[in-house]
Amino acid sequence: MKKIMLVFGTRPEAIKMCPLVNELKSRPEFDVRVCVTGQHREMLDQVLKVFHVCPDYDMSIMKSGQTLFDITSLVLLGMRDVFQDFEPDVVLVHGDTTTSFAAALACFYLQIPVGHVEAGLRTYDLGSPFPEEFNRQAVDLVTEYYFAPTEQARENLLKEGKPDSQIYVTGNTGIDALATTVQDGYKNKYLEWADGSRLILITAHRRENLGAPMHSMFRAIRRLMDEREDLKAIYPIHMNPLVREAAHAELDGCDRLKIIEPLEVLDFHNFLAASYLILTDSGGIQEEAPSLGKPVLVMRDTTERPEGVAAGTLRLVGTSEKEIYAQASRLLDDVEAYGMMAQASNPYGDGTASRQIADILARI
Ligand code: UD1
Ligand code: UDP
Repeated sequence: MKKIMLVFGTRPEAIKMCPLVNELKSRPEFDVRVCVTGQHREMLDQVLKVFHVCPDYDMSIMKSGQTLFDITSLVLLGMRDVFQDFEPDVVLVHGDTTTSFAAALACFYLQIPVGHVEAGLRTYDLGSPFPEEFNRQAVDLVTEYYFAPTEQARENLLKEGKPDSQIYVTGNTGIDALATTVQDGYKNKYLEWADGSRLILITAHRRENLGAPMHSMFRAIRRLMDEREDLKAIYPIHMNPLVREAAHAELDGCDRLKIIEPLEVLDFHNFLAASYLILTDSGGIQEEAPSLGKPVLVMRDTTERPEGVAAGTLRLVGTSEKEIYAQASRLLDDVEAYGMMAQASNPYGDGTASRQIADILARI
């Protein structure tokens, strides 16, 4: 039996790896184990619960105010012990987190083949997103099996000299999850509160945006909300205390904006489906929103997801208060401009990525 270990540690990795865990576990030819690093805690456990995934190893590394040094060194050392215990034939990591980087590095030291799920995304700017652009490039240096979500990601890998025979375009496993979560007739007290208004959904957490950029993002949102009575906003806030501090400083006291705890993924996807406009610096949301035809203003200077920009659903607006305010105002005032962005398209696959990856793993 092929021994496969999946390693992940944060919310977005879990959302995109759990469908794959369940697919692999349904196949008798694999001996599947899940290792979570616990880089996130509450936000990770929320996802594990929704997908009924129970980790075989849990390194529980998270601490408040953790630095990249803490995460990297704890994951690297922890992985050594886990890999020596299970002795996997292949290890699957996801995307670009520090969990994924350190786990891939541990594989390299122990010469265990790595399968990289969501391989080949690039901005080619090591400062943006930081440190994720480094992480994903570093993972791809030691990867044996590249599971690229799109043709564009495959092109990036080929340009870097990765062998064509090791690259598989499968779509994004996040889209697999989306197919099971969005429901007609979904109800929630916050959506009832927002009923009759145009709903703005907000998220923010990027490390390079912490501090001044995040304050200016929130000031732009505050101005929009103060000036427009037909809007309501819901902001399921990340648990990072630095994000919370900035958000409360700029957004408290606005009756039409609710800051709430992180939503379970099923709820969040239905909130996405109910929203009019999304303001975010998230990566995963840039993949989900085009499928739902929801315009997204991406509060970042770069994106590794040009497919959504080409499809017209995403627009990069940077982090300056003036630009975010101007771009959001334009969309809110100009029905035609809004309509051009609100076109559903699905550049990230047909929801069968997990199945395709499992088939490939069975073959190789
Ligand atoms: C991490 C990833 C980022 C990903 C993001 C998804 C790295 C370097 N960053 O960034 O790529 O986009 O996750 O959200 O890998 N916290 C909690 N409970 C939780 C989760 C976080 O309290 O369940 C708090 C802790 O105080 C922690 C802080 O949030 O110290 C930051 O978490 P961390 O994983 O270091 O960074 P993220 O910004 O979440
Ligand atoms: N998400 C969620 N609950 C929330 C906010 C986001 O389940 O309250 C989901 C969202 O649907 C997407 C993922 O979390 O799948 C994005 O995670 P995040 O923005 O934290 O990380 P990134 O994608 O930027 O790495």
